[in-house]
Amino acid sequence: MTVLVTGATGTVGRHVVDQLLSAGVRVRALTRNPATAALPDRVEVFEGDLEQPGTLHAALHGVERLFLFPVPETAREVVAVAEEAGVRRVVVLSSSSVLDTSGDNYSGEHHRTVERAVEKSGVEWTFVRPDEFAANVLWKWGHSIRTEGVVRAPYGNARRVLIHEADVAAVAVAALLQDGHAGQAYLLTGPEALSQAEQVRVIAETTGRSILFEEITPDQARASMGRAMPQPVVEMVLDYLAEAVARPPAPVDTVERITGRPARTFARWAADHAGDFAAQHEGPSGIRHAERKETMPGTLSEQSVQERNKELALSMAAAWNRGELHGITKHWAADIQHFSEDRPVPSEAMVSAMEAGLAAFPDLQMEVKSIVAEGDRVILRITVTASQQGEFLGKAPTGRKVTWYMLEELRFNDAGQVIEHYDVFNYLPMLKKLDLVPADVL
Ligand SMILES: NC(=O)c1ccc[n+]([C@@H]2O[C@H](COP(=O)([O-])OP(=O)(O)OC[C@H]3O[C@@H](n4cnc5c(N)ncnc54)[C@H](OP(=O)(O)O)[C@@H]3O)[C@@H](O)[C@H]2O)c1
Repeated sequence: MTVLVTGATGTVGRHVVDQLLSAGVRVRALTRNPATAALPDRVEVFEGDLEQPGTLHAALHGVERLFLFPVPETAREVVAVAEEAGVRRVVVLSSSSVLDTSGDNYSGEHHRTVERAVEKSGVEWTFVRPDEFAANVLWKWGHSIRTEGVVRAPYGNARRVLIHEADVAAVAVAALLQDGHAGQAYLLTGPEALSQAEQVRVIAETTGRSILFEEITPDQARASMGRAMPQPVVEMVLDYLAEAVARPPAPVDTVERITGRPARTFARWAADHAGDFAAQHEGPSGIRHAERKETMPGTLSEQSVQERNKELALSMAAAWNRGELHGITKHWAADIQHFSEDRPVPSEAMVSAMEAGLAAFPDLQMEVKSIVAEGDRVILRITVTASQQGEFLGKAPTGRKVTWYMLEELRFNDAGQVIEHYDVFNYLPMLKKLDLVPADVL
């Protein structure tokens, strides 16, 4: 039996992959970027994008069971493609938020759309509906714990029943591999309701670090979170924290019922992630430290900002590969500065050069060979392969397949817009192939 895991490089997906491998199952993993996926050797890695169901055929060929990461926009088409390929069982990574039927719950609607798409299909399904992940603590508090030994958050008494990502995966794997879970929707929580202040104390005790909990007002939190998250998400987070003070949630025993062992405690989760909380000093330069504090407001850790910036950079490379220049320019700040080979280039000239490049090389494909995030910058090493279909540097179309190499550096602002863009090229192999380099130059 072959199982395809989507979202395989994610917090839950990596555990699903590992636990399926441990159970001796043949595992396929879907990722939009195999080059950076870093999945175990025994996994068959397929490139594909859930937002583009047409890219999934190869990954789904011969697959009987599917772990589905929720992407509502295309869920119906994805399930149809899976069914057509022979998939008979789908386990959905959903959310406890679907149980909130108040009508204005952004996350509930997101996950309900996916659940409905699966329900309406002819596959056997199970919905895994976790409550809040313990792992959220990493992006909420990780940076300030590592660098300052402090957590600033509103609603210190808000109690949450945080779940370990490995337990979400364990229930999903049981539903994928065992019979008897068809048509079930499993609400999952951790084993205990802990206030935010208690969570901080557990992290401090488990990691042996002294960590201060500083309660801030909801308005202070709104201002700070609003710089890194969409407004509806900020309101959703604040609403459920307020609710968690008024009506603390109670743990449920689903993990134990389905897997046969108790859900992992928050202390266990903190121990598994102790390395993520290790003290970090921001380098010798006080100026750099001050700069960073200004650009990275408490709510999104520096690591999460860097991951987001990398994803944005990769999505821009993918847009090039689809010939969609808008997929790139939409990420530019209004006052972006471009530099090509260190020369400033106005935005309009940059767009014209990109259009000219695509006209001459319409099948252009970028392969990101490496990607590194440093502070607010992302640096990509890229190999481009394309065939010359249009005129280029006065050379009539040759149809020849050429390769060139480039280094691209992007600098992002807090909102994830590119504010500086540098390109450095090595065109020599391509110019040689097109007979555009005089022999005496070489
Ligand atoms: N955080 C919570 O408290 C919570 C609570 C309940 C439910 N949930 C659910 O769990 C999800 C987060 O799970 P997670 O933490 O494991 O995810 P994650 O760490 O954010 O990773 C998601 C993975 O999904 C893949 N992915 C994203 N969009 C994709 C697309 N269009 N096509 C193909 N792959 C795509 C990405 O892989 P590649 O980049 O390799 O393609 C990424 O590694 C949330 O979105 C929500 O639905 C979360």
